[in-house]
Parts: sequence; C-alpha cells; structure tokens
Amino acid sequence: MPPKKIITVFGATGAQGGGVVSTFLEDAALKDEWTVRAVTRDVSKESAKKLSSRGAEVVSADLNDEESLIAVLAGSYAVYGVTNYWEKTDADLEVQQGKNLANAVKKSSVSHYIWSSLLNITELSKGKLCNVYHFDSKAKVEDYVRSLEIPATYFMPGFYMTGVPGAMFGPQPPDNAWTFSLPASPEAILPMYHPGDTGKYVKAIVNNRDKLLGKRFYGATAYMTAQEVVDTFKTVFPEAGKTARFFSVPEEAFRGAMKAQGTPDFIVSELYENVKLFEGPGYYGGESLGETHKLVTDRLTTWAEYAKDAEAFKGLE
Ligand SMILES: NC(=O)c1ccc[n+]([C@@H]2O[C@H](COP(=O)([O-])OP(=O)(O)OC[C@H]3O[C@@H](n4cnc5c(N)ncnc54)[C@H](OP(=O)(O)O)[C@@H]3O)[C@@H](O)[C@H]2O)c1
Repeated sequence: MPPKKIITVFGATGAQGGGVVSTFLEDAALKDEWTVRAVTRDVSKESAKKLSSRGAEVVSADLNDEESLIAVLAGSYAVYGVTNYWEKTDADLEVQQGKNLANAVKKSSVSHYIWSSLLNITELSKGKLCNVYHFDSKAKVEDYVRSLEIPATYFMPGFYMTGVPGAMFGPQPPDNAWTFSLPASPEAILPMYHPGDTGKYVKAIVNNRDKLLGKRFYGATAYMTAQEVVDTFKTVFPEAGKTARFFSVPEEAFRGAMKAQGTPDFIVSELYENVKLFEGPGYYGGESLGETHKLVTDRLTTWAEYAKDAEAFKGLE
C-alpha cells in the first residue's frame, strides 16, 4: 500500500475545518488514503483533545505567525485553509492571516491548497455593496494565492443554514408566529450550506484535483428563496408552520435593532449589505451549482433535514 498523504486542516476545531476532519477520518475510502493533521492554537482544549482521540494528529500553529505555519505544513500533500473574520472583525488582519498561510503553503511545496474563499462583493456589485468586508478580504487572499501560482482550488462556502434557526427564524410578536426575518425581499436567493458538509466538498475537490486546479467550487446543497425556506419549515412542522411567515425587515428597523444590541456601525452596514447581496447580484454572482452537484458523491444536508433536528426548533410539530 502506498504511504498515506497528509491533509493539514486549519480551523479544525471549528465548523468548516471540523467537517473536513470528520470526512477524512471517517470516509471508507479516504481514511486509507489520507492522514489528518488538525491545526489549532491550543492543543490542550477539549475540542482539540477530541480530535486527537478520533485519530487526527493535532498540532499547534497561529495564522498570525508564519514560522509556526511552515512548521506544521511539513510533508503535507493537501491543505485546507480558512480564516475567522468574526473573531476580531478586522478585515486587514484577515487578509494578513490569509497571506501568511499562502506564503507558508508556497514555501512548503504543497501539492493542493484548498482556500476557503468568497467573492469580492465590491467588484461584483460595481461598488454598490462596498461594506461586505469578510467577503472582499477572502477574495483578496484568493488573488494573492493566484499571484503566487500555488496549485489551488477555491472553495466558496454558502450561507450557513446552521445560523438560521434562532434570532433569524424564531417566534415574533404580536402573535408569536414562527418568523424568518431578513432585511430583504422573500425572493432573495440563499445558497443553503451546512458547514458540517465541508468535507464532502473537499473530498470531491481532492478527488478531482487536476480538473479543479485554479477553479472555484461552490459549496451549497441548493439555492432557496427566503420564502422557500419558510415553505419548507411549514412542511417539516405542519402545526407550527400554520402561521409561519417571512418578514421583510425595513432597513431602518434592522439598523436600529442591531445598534440597540451594541453592534458597531461598520458591522451593521456589513450585515445589512451581506443580506442585500442575496437580492442581487447574488451570493455567487448567479453561478450554477451544477458542477458541484456533479462532482460531490455524498448526500448533502438539506434545509428540511437540518431544520427537523435543529435545537432552536426542538419540540415543534
Ligand atoms: N456564517 C456564514 O454564513 C458564513 C458563510 C461563508 C463563510 N463564512 C466564514 O467562515 C469563517 C469561519 O469559519 P468557521 O465557521 O469554520 O469558524 P468557527 O467555527 O468559528 O471556528 C474558527 C476556527 O478558526 C481557528 N482560528 C481562528 N483564529 C486562528 C488563528 N489565529 N490561528 C489558527 N487558527 C485560528 C479556530 O481554531 P482554534 O480556536 O482552535 O485555534 C477555529 O478552529 C469566517 O471567516 C466567515 O466569514 C461564514
């Protein structure tokens, strides 16, 4: 049997990277072919220890420290790279972290880099939506990876369906009806993605390396309108669904509610424009999910399946 290839996974203790680790440790074919190296800043934390007990090699590195990245990349065939904008909400820092990782990947002669990217919304919207910093920052890193001529595929995670139940979709006054609230029209289009599925996409990416080098790979189970998200809820929970609805939150009300929670102005604008993007030019600029669904061989989680077991919807009928 040939020696196993190493996939080094950043964000391994988080949602996307955790999904990659699970698939590469558990998939019948992948586990014979790959060794999983899971990166965290703190190998002593519970989630890191769990990864170790499940069979991953857990190592410590910090995206702010290029030398530490070079050390953990030694011998890696593939690398999954992701940054977390929301930890510091600092786009310049996120770009720097992404560049640090790209530099380390370049120096380590990695054969296949998978960068968790997003589109540049300022460019896509022709300057209309210029405050969606966490998209633009990842796109700038993508440009940088391309400039270094790293053999890479750009994974584009969709809209986390895991973020929907709760504040976004919960009981609302005056009648406590289950309400999906967004500052957008019911026709706004959401690429529904479960971050736990990330390994299924990455499996397709590594299994189709040559075909996907230099390409973007869109990560979503399906495009759904905001109204379809509610309609599916009605099907899954016929009783609670009787009064379920979509509510198009007026801009001023959205901004007011966010500010009242202490959200800084620049993030209020960022979140508002992030949602406006769903109305147009679109989260993926209208790209088809056809290639993704052709190449992914595992079943992707649907919104209906996720909603059925979501904690915030527990007990609903
Ligand atoms: N919510 C959405 O709909 C959506 C859609 C598309 C993309 N995204 C993007 O997803 C990204 C977050 O990914 P996620 O949801 O998988 O994150 P997550 O679950 O919040 O986990 C964050 C991960 O990043 C690691 N990390 C953070 N800072 C690090 C550093 N300096 N060095 C090394 N590792 C570091 C953490 O590792 P340790 O703490 O263990 O060190 C952790 O594993 C964000 O940038 C966001 O913009 C979100």
